[in-house]
Amino acid sequence: RHNRPDRRDGLNFDPVAPNTEDRIVTAEGYDQAVVIRWGDAVLPGAPKFDFDKQTAAAQAKQFGFNNDFCGLVPLGHNRWLMGSNHEYTSETFMFKGYSDANPTEEQVKIGWAAHGFSVVVVQKDFWSGKLVPKLDRYYNRRITVTTQFAFDGPAAGSKYLQTSADKTGRKVFGTFGNCAGGVTPWGTILSGEENFDGYFCSPTTPTDPRVTRYGKIATATARKWERFDKRFDITQEPNEFNRFGWIVEIDPNDPNSTPVKHTALGRFKHEACNIRVACDGRVVAYMGDDERFDYIYKFVSKNRIKHGDSQRVREENKKLLSEGTLYVARFTGDSPASEIDGTGKLPSDGEFDGTGEWIPLVSGNKSFVDGFTAEEVYVFTRQAADKVGATKMDRPEDIEPNPKTGRVYAALTNNTDRGVVAGKEGPTEINPRIGNKHGHVLEWEERGNDPTATKFSWKLFLVCGDPASPDTYFGGYDKTQVSPISCPDNVAFDKRGNLWISSDGNALKSNDGLFAVPTEGKYRGRVKQFLTVPKGAETCGPVIEDDFVLVSVQHPGEITGASADNPLSHWPDGGTSQPRPSVVAIWPRRGPICD
Ligand code: FEO
Ligand code: CA
Ligand code: CA
Ligand code: CA
Repeated sequence: RHNRPDRRDGLNFDPVAPNTEDRIVTAEGYDQAVVIRWGDAVLPGAPKFDFDKQTAAAQAKQFGFNNDFCGLVPLGHNRWLMGSNHEYTSETFMFKGYSDANPTEEQVKIGWAAHGFSVVVVQKDFWSGKLVPKLDRYYNRRITVTTQFAFDGPAAGSKYLQTSADKTGRKVFGTFGNCAGGVTPWGTILSGEENFDGYFCSPTTPTDPRVTRYGKIATATARKWERFDKRFDITQEPNEFNRFGWIVEIDPNDPNSTPVKHTALGRFKHEACNIRVACDGRVVAYMGDDERFDYIYKFVSKNRIKHGDSQRVREENKKLLSEGTLYVARFTGDSPASEIDGTGKLPSDGEFDGTGEWIPLVSGNKSFVDGFTAEEVYVFTRQAADKVGATKMDRPEDIEPNPKTGRVYAALTNNTDRGVVAGKEGPTEINPRIGNKHGHVLEWEERGNDPTATKFSWKLFLVCGDPASPDTYFGGYDKTQVSPISCPDNVAFDKRGNLWISSDGNALKSNDGLFAVPTEGKYRGRVKQFLTVPKGAETCGPVIEDDFVLVSVQHPGEITGASADNPLSHWPDGGTSQPRPSVVAIWPRRGPICD
């Protein structure tokens, strides 16, 4: 608790203190309710969830596991299409008596159905304030590991994407590892395929850098999917691996549309994708590759956005991410390297800051990278970016432009290897801490505030951790007046341009949370915790509307020693229930959330 709460920052709540409770603790004056949880009906005809009698057929009609990103597309009249990513499954929390070594075929198929994506119509109930899911026969949709997707853009059909099941290289089944995402101005949802490497095995250790640069491939996967579908064994189906690691676009307005994987946006461990429209109508997509020492990218479309919200206009706009130029970021600090000592101490100019440039990698069929064809840049983007000397970052998570100022914010969640692991890069002005446990938040402004510019200036907005510790920085704000924050992951904005940050893996030994911080004016940098999630959970999603907030509570109860046979959390249903990942709405009893 801060000694004198001061609400003149325009954020209508007092901060929540760090805690380790097994519930969502919100700021005072706010109510909360689960919108939908793992196993709840999405499609008409879905059976009632029964933890002890799960089937793949039921799961394919129910809300999937471990929902991460959440996005709302307005339908009007206080109704929205809510899109949720189901990033991954945690089988030991889904099934009692689960055997890692020998999952049953039905358990594997439940896992396939519990991954992917859900579209659910939600409606705000005027009297209770609750957001209620509707069993809508037209819009509601489940996308799983067996749903057909189409490749789109310059590398669609590439020889690197062809398999024995798909000689065209244009058709692929499923999406998994979908972490964060974004809602486009044209009413579709983008979703990033992140940790796809863990879904593939190789009985012989791979040595091809085109494989190893994307992860350590085990001889058997954790979930043993390869036993029931050989495409997950890269020795049997080598190119299947290349068919994951893309940005996916889903049109929730058209439930019969085939979702698309956009090759023009490159292939890496895509965390998220958020769009800003330039003055000339071209659209710019910002993207991070969430791995230690990996990169920040942007894509600038060739064509211009069309205005209107008819399906015909939407179909035109759905081609915007198919053609354009892909860039990777290089950041340069303005302080002498000798002043970056790895402790997080500010250099003598008082800021971790500098300038940067966007290095073009590929545009249409033209590669800008020596030794790489255009299709190789699209499919093996990490190696292309290595070649041009992009800046190695501390795990780029969500990136989002501020709708009010145009400045762009990136969460760099942590990197405990920096300056610690031999042969890896040490501290630099933009990633200034050795063994960065708590992460930082980067802010940049494109030259002329034009998102298509190739030059920009940057500064660190937050250097996270315990504000009492000298290695932290809160936008220059008084550190005795801010909430501790660790491991920023997802970012979002309210319409006033306040930045909202959710955390994953809080290294300060309290639960993860959701925070809000003004980015301008007298209160810039004043971080306040808005809520905390239950034990073992990660805060994801956040959607910030004027009169409610949505958070995804991912992997609740995943604490050391816990499992379905020994649940150590009973959130959200209490009693002796199993913990269930959920979307939760929080709303103020009176007044707006920010003013
Ligand atoms: Fe799935 Fe990068 O967090
Ligand atoms: Ca500096
Ligand atoms: Ca994330
Ligand atoms: Ca994360």
